[in-house]
Amino acid sequence: MLIDTFGRVATDLRVSLTDRCNLRCTYCMPEEGLQWLAKPDLLTDDEIVRLIRIAVTDLGVTEVRFTGGEPLLRPGLVGIVERCAALEPRPRMSLTTNGIGLKRTAAALKAAGLDRVNVSLDTLRPDVFKTLTRRDRHQDVLDGMAAARDAGLTPVKVNAVLMPGLNADEAPDLLGWAIAEGYELRFIEQMPLDAQHGWKRDGMITAGDILDSLRTRFTLTPEGSQERGSAPAERWVVDGGPHTVGVIASVTRPFCRACDRTRLTADGQVRTCLFATEETDLRATLRSDASDAEVAEIWKKAMWGKKAGSGLDDPSFLQPDRPMSAIGG
Ligand SMILES: C[S@@+](CC[C@H](N)C(=O)[O-])C[C@H]1O[C@@H](n2cnc3c(N)ncnc32)[C@H](O)[C@@H]1O
Repeated sequence: MLIDTFGRVATDLRVSLTDRCNLRCTYCMPEEGLQWLAKPDLLTDDEIVRLIRIAVTDLGVTEVRFTGGEPLLRPGLVGIVERCAALEPRPRMSLTTNGIGLKRTAAALKAAGLDRVNVSLDTLRPDVFKTLTRRDRHQDVLDGMAAARDAGLTPVKVNAVLMPGLNADEAPDLLGWAIAEGYELRFIEQMPLDAQHGWKRDGMITAGDILDSLRTRFTLTPEGSQERGSAPAERWVVDGGPHTVGVIASVTRPFCRACDRTRLTADGQVRTCLFATEETDLRATLRSDASDAEVAEIWKKAMWGKKAGSGLDDPSFLQPDRPMSAIGG
């Protein structure tokens, strides 16, 4: 089991399959892109499946989320999902994606054993999408989401980040649209994880701002008990139900105390947190012919050292060296 000194147990594994992306979201990376990882530094498909097998069979992981970069850019994705679906016990598997290319692969991913997807979409306006992502691919994302829904990769969750001066006014429109399409919308506060280090606390759109904006059109009531456990999103029932909306207040109301996550970068480093400043190299361990038991021990030791919180609310907070795209969002 992956337990830390605060008694938290990590059962949710985020696996980055690549640091590359086909969008250039302004809150994530610069227009020219980044220095991508070299191919020999990336874990191979076999190495990824081996680490997921160790996590699931020896370390108590029950949920696997594939992410990136853009995970649909990984050529072996469907095969990786298929091999992980054959593991005993079988983990629940999801994918966080920008949706570009999902129209082509949704049915194959479902057949391989993927359970569901989270698709990122910040705006309903194609011109704003182009400004925000620096690519003219709005319709591809909408098509990808619809294909995921039709393939049964449900519930399709939509992740939206609001940016001042760009899409900050779109919260009610996005919620109305998501309800009409049968998607579950979640807003994520913008975090200091951009490669350009341009994030500013002042002026960011907070969970409070988002809820105020939604309440101009909808009645929101807290879902269930106020305890959100390890779920990062606080959820509200919309207009009496059955639809809900989530808000992930990573900055203003972090959920570190109940965190159940462990992360693996595309180059095989274990991270205990998005904001961790240290990593543990599992790739070197794998490539030194270590046994599964040795790999598991190193992973456990890494998680034992997990810090109490992200440190975002501490004045001495330092942004990690790697941006979100290279960690795996
Ligand atoms: C880094 S992306 C990786 C997966 C995939 N490419 C996608 O678009 O979903 C995962 C999520 O992180 C979000 N994200 C990226 N940078 C962020 C930031 N600085 N603050 C908050 N969310 C961010 C994206 O909007 C997306 O929903």
